[in-house]
Amino acid sequence: AEIIIVDNEAEAGKLYADCVADLIRTKPDAVLGLATGSSPLAAYKALAAKVEAEGIDVSHVRGFALDEYLGLPLEHPESYHSTIHRTVVEPLGLNPELVHVPGDVLDGAPIEDGDKVAHAGEAYDAAIEAAGGIDVQILGIGADGHIGFNEPGSSLASGTRVKTLVQQTRVDNARFFDDDIDQVPTHCITQGVGTILKARHLVLLAFGENKAEAIAQTVEGGISAFCPASALQLHPHATIIVDEAAASQLR
Ligand code: F6R
Repeated sequence: AEIIIVDNEAEAGKLYADCVADLIRTKPDAVLGLATGSSPLAAYKALAAKVEAEGIDVSHVRGFALDEYLGLPLEHPESYHSTIHRTVVEPLGLNPELVHVPGDVLDGAPIEDGDKVAHAGEAYDAAIEAAGGIDVQILGIGADGHIGFNEPGSSLASGTRVKTLVQQTRVDNARFFDDDIDQVPTHCITQGVGTILKARHLVLLAFGENKAEAIAQTVEGGISAFCPASALQLHPHATIIVDEAAASQLR
C-alpha cells in the first residue's frame, strides 16, 4: 500500500476529494464505497465543498455503504442508512435512489426473519457487481484492526453477510443510543473483507494515537485474519492516509 502522512484530517480530506472529483469528471456515474464513523467526515466535507465550488455534476454518482445494523428501521436516526444520508447524500447532493446500504432490503426486519436475512448479503454483493463494482472505497479502521464490521477472526475471503456485534463494539456504540446498551442492536450486516478487496481503489483513513497499533499491524504485520485490515496488503491499489499520531508505531 501507499502510505501518506498528513498534518491533519482536513489535509487527508482534500486528498480524497481531489481523487474522487477526478474520478467523477472521467466517469460521471462513478461508484463510491461509503463508510460511517468519524474518520471519513472531513473527506466528505472536503468533497462536498469541491463539488459545490467547481460545479461538478454528481447527479449520476452511485454509492454503496459498508455496513448497517440489523433490526433498526431504516428511518431510525442511528441507522447507517440515516447516517450516510446525513453525512454524504445531503451535503453532496447525491440522488438518494442511487445510494444503497446493506440493510436496505431488510428495513428493520427482525433477525428471526431467517429467509430474508440469509439472502441479504448475497443480494448486496450481486448489486455491487451489477453496478460494475466499486471505484473508490473509503475505509476507517478500528483500534483492533477491524474494517466494516469485520472484527478480528473474520475470513479474509468473506462476502457480505450477517454477523453478531462483539460486546466491545456494542459498548463503544452505546453512546449513540442514550448510553443504554440494551438499545444497541445485537447484529449487523457488513461487506466482507473479500467484498472490500474487490473495489478498484481502497482509501483507508486513520487519525490519532488510538489507531497507531492497528496501522502498524495493517502495514507491517503479517497478513492475518487477526487484523482484518492487513488484507489491504493483498490489494494492488490501496492508499493509507494517516496523521503523525496514527503513524507513530510504524518503523
Ligand atoms: C464504519 C465502519 C467501521 C469504522 C471504524 C472506525 O462504517 O465500518 O469499521 O470505520 O470503526 O471508526 P471511526 O472512524 O469512528 O474511528
